[in-house]
Amino acid sequence: MKRIITYGTFDLLHYGHINLLRRAKELGDYLIVGLSTNKFNEIKGKKCYFSYEERKKLLEAIRYVDLVIPEECWEQKIQDIKEYKVDIFVMGNDWEGKFDFLKDYCEVIYLERTPEISTTKIKADLGLNKAPTKSI
Ligand code: CTP
Repeated sequence: MKRIITYGTFDLLHYGHINLLRRAKELGDYLIVGLSTNKFNEIKGKKCYFSYEERKKLLEAIRYVDLVIPEECWEQKIQDIKEYKVDIFVMGNDWEGKFDFLKDYCEVIYLERTPEISTTKIKADLGLNKAPTKSI
């Protein structure tokens, strides 16, 4: 049984996320997602449209995802890898090199990001970052 772990916010779930999760799962048998809590997102300077519980339910409905755990701080990764007996740590290549220190504990793989899609782009395209306009 090969176990994989990945982390992220996964707000406004999109096909870039699905591609990442599918390719992560293809590396083994059991995929764990460390999902950033609302509090941790604040620390990262991210504001989510969906709550943690809503984002968790969406991820749990995806066939590639076996378990969703909360990501509450930057430092928990080593502990998670040990606790869940993780073989492979996976992130998109926007994080290339940032988690190489985990190579002491498991294999570390950066997968190529799907081009031209992100939560930030969806929000910008829909104008979700702007203040609501008053209708006359
Ligand atoms: N990801 C990806 N391809 C994309 C967007 C995201 O492979 N086009 C991956 C990221 O590299 C990360 C995971 O999906 O490993 C979760 O990313 P997240 O930051 O939640 O998604 P983004 O769409 O990048 O969100 P934001 O714009 O808020 O940074």
